[in-house]
Amino acid sequence: MINKGVKIAPASGKLGVLLVGLGAVSTTFVAGVEAIKRGLAAPVGSLTQMGTIRLGKRTDNRSPKIKDFVPLAELDDIVFGAWDIFADSAFDAAMNAGVLEKDLLNQVSEQLASLKPMPAVFEQNYVKRLHGENIKTGRNKMELAERLIEDIAKFKLDNNCDRLVMVWAASTEIFLEPIAIHQSLDVFEKALYDNDPAIAPSMIYAYAALKSGVPFANGAPNLSVDIPALTALAEQNRVPICGKDFKTGQTLMKTILAPGLKSRMLGLEGWYSTNILGNRDGEVLDDPEAFRTKEESKLSVLEHIFQPEVYPDLYGNFSHVVRINYYPPRGDNKEGWDNIDIFGWLGYKMQIKIDFLCRDSILAAPLCLDLALFMDLAQRAGMKGVQEWLSFYFKSPQTAPDLYPEHDIFIQLMKLKNTLRNMKGEDLITHLGLEYYD
Ligand SMILES: NC(=O)c1ccc[n+]([C@@H]2O[C@H](COP(=O)([O-])OP(=O)(O)OC[C@H]3O[C@@H](n4cnc5c(N)ncnc54)[C@H](O)[C@@H]3O)[C@@H](O)[C@H]2O)c1
Repeated sequence: MINKGVKIAPASGKLGVLLVGLGAVSTTFVAGVEAIKRGLAAPVGSLTQMGTIRLGKRTDNRSPKIKDFVPLAELDDIVFGAWDIFADSAFDAAMNAGVLEKDLLNQVSEQLASLKPMPAVFEQNYVKRLHGENIKTGRNKMELAERLIEDIAKFKLDNNCDRLVMVWAASTEIFLEPIAIHQSLDVFEKALYDNDPAIAPSMIYAYAALKSGVPFANGAPNLSVDIPALTALAEQNRVPICGKDFKTGQTLMKTILAPGLKSRMLGLEGWYSTNILGNRDGEVLDDPEAFRTKEESKLSVLEHIFQPEVYPDLYGNFSHVVRINYYPPRGDNKEGWDNIDIFGWLGYKMQIKIDFLCRDSILAAPLCLDLALFMDLAQRAGMKGVQEWLSFYFKSPQTAPDLYPEHDIFIQLMKLKNTLRNMKGEDLITHLGLEYYD
């Protein structure tokens, strides 16, 4: 069958990127985009800006940049908006976060200072360690959702935006499991009126985005849009959604290394991971209830990649431990250690040690950019509901019900690029390559 591609509306006019949370990740993203627009730095780490895509046969020599292949919004056409529980401008928040050098921030100070967060929907119970003042009030959670819907409409009008996307880059909320009120939209909406404690603020933002026809990407591990009521709303309103939890740092390394070990049928006895982290995210995760949400997200990765049920002799009994310790002196410069106990031919034991001195927000910022641009593309291409092709960006990819998530980063990248080829009516690449030997 010949794939004719899909009709993609042009990326004309302005794209508003609405950020929930204006902390380390968001300000590093916004400042980075402004610096790149001025030619002060390169968009390293961003597939949409630097990546290429091979089209046709290897001998065709067609490998355009992704941004020249599919119609993405230009950086010059992005306008930023945000909500945060602290009223600091993006400039002050970036200075506080201490990720980027003051010199760079001063060069984009005007743009950052003009980005002031709208009052947030927040409740202490869901993020125990933070105390802010820039918070909306309302009689119930439905009224708070309505306030957010008004914010979204006003932002779009005031900034003359053609389209909007929303990215959750706010703190990790306490661990919640899906229960009855999350199962259908009717019941969820009633629960909003009833102020049900099982509705976290992130769900209220997601609901407001979807009601406004705005794509929603979830960069944290909290459930947010990953509940049947909201996936149904996304389908109904034809809006793309994706999540959860930006894949950076240690989990990025795991999903690079684990597929390699498995490809060579090397066995695993144990994988011990520990982190020291001193930013506000680390402080929030120091609360056991928030850590539980993160831990669940981090733990599932190896189980899925190694498939213990398929390879019981190699992976049937490995131990996987993940720790995060809040250690203020390090700020955003996390250190992640991994000790990996593997075994090879005849069961002989070996060890691998990784010490990744990374910068959390430097790894996460380009993911925010790519997700904002790809989610906008998906909407213009008429793609609705869960965008599994964006699993590449997440620790805990959201999928259709009853489908296990794909964690192997190489499969994720192939899926992402084949989705772009498919959108444009190009042949999918299977890597079979027999035609070169005919
Ligand atoms: N940096 C990474 O590598 C990485 C990777 C995966 C996930 N994440 C997640 O991304 C999120 C942001 O990380 P960060 O380092 O920027 O954290 P941060 O603490 O610097 O920023 C989060 C901001 O969200 C605000 N906030 C909290 N609840 C809010 C609400 N209900 N509405 C609006 N604002 C709210 C906080 O006040 C804070 O300013 C965290 O959930 C983190 O777990 C980060």
